[in-house]
Amino acid sequence: MRDFEGKVAVVTGAASGIGFAMCQRFAATGMRIALADLGGPALDAAAAQLREAGADVLAVPTDVAKWEEICALVEAVSDRFGGAHVVCNNAGVRSMGPSWETGIDIWRWVLGVDLWGVIHGVKAFVPFMIRHGEPGHIVNTASVAGLVSVRNNAPYAVSKYGVVALSEALKRELDAAGAPIGVSVLCPATVRTQLRENSNRLGPDTNSVTLLSAAPIPHEQSATEVAKKVLDAIENDKFWILTHPEVGALIRRRYEGIVDTGEVVTYN
Ligand SMILES: NC(=O)c1ccc[n+]([C@@H]2O[C@H](COP(=O)([O-])OP(=O)(O)OC[C@H]3O[C@@H](n4cnc5c(N)ncnc54)[C@H](O)[C@@H]3O)[C@@H](O)[C@H]2O)c1
Repeated sequence: MRDFEGKVAVVTGAASGIGFAMCQRFAATGMRIALADLGGPALDAAAAQLREAGADVLAVPTDVAKWEEICALVEAVSDRFGGAHVVCNNAGVRSMGPSWETGIDIWRWVLGVDLWGVIHGVKAFVPFMIRHGEPGHIVNTASVAGLVSVRNNAPYAVSKYGVVALSEALKRELDAAGAPIGVSVLCPATVRTQLRENSNRLGPDTNSVTLLSAAPIPHEQSATEVAKKVLDAIENDKFWILTHPEVGALIRRRYEGIVDTGEVVTYN
């Protein structure tokens, strides 16, 4: 997809971090923006900031874990803009602790947002985009944790592996159907955002994330840098968005572990 002026972008998790940076980047190309996030001051402030910058903006309070709220988001986008060209299923949260000590409520919450949120987005928006018939692009936010697992955050890795698998399937299915809709899967390593703070605020009381990661990746990126890479992938119809190329060696080691050495490789 190369022509952005006047087109419509829908972004979930749009009130903060990577989601908000994508909205800013898309608005700078002249796109109209639908921001979806949990209702509250952060969503209002994000929408106001984009409006002040001259963007045509719709803010829709949405819990991506709830199917009926994603369906209502499609309705709201349809009513206001008539269609959607770029859809970014990006909302996410995280937890912390060994798998067996993580409460069932935390497992359900993380999978509900990080995996079901993306499934809901694909299931609701793809038929809408196909009906609309214009070229479009889906961007699903996974993580490096969707390519190499992480310790002490298994619900996150389980979700992100699922998002990668869904995105690969979707790409091949849309190609086979001849639909003019591209797919990308965003797999960042560490990005400077409010993920830890938001996860502690939004999750069950027992959820306590004390550090983002003990990862061996030194280079923390800004959300703005990541958003630039997302736009580039949409423009050039690139499936994998690996924001930190230095994780390539780790990914290779994981696959060597599977087929050659038997080693279990994790990110942290
Ligand atoms: N920050 C990183 O280092 C990093 C690395 C890899 C992947 N990611 C992924 O990037 C995505 C964006 O995260 P971020 O780092 O910008 O964090 P962030 O906390 O700054 O932004 C996430 C947004 O998602 C929203 N959200 C949470 N639950 C929601 C729900 N149920 N419905 C709708 N919105 C909800 C939050 O309110 C927040 O605005 C996530 O999927 C995250 O897993 C982040």
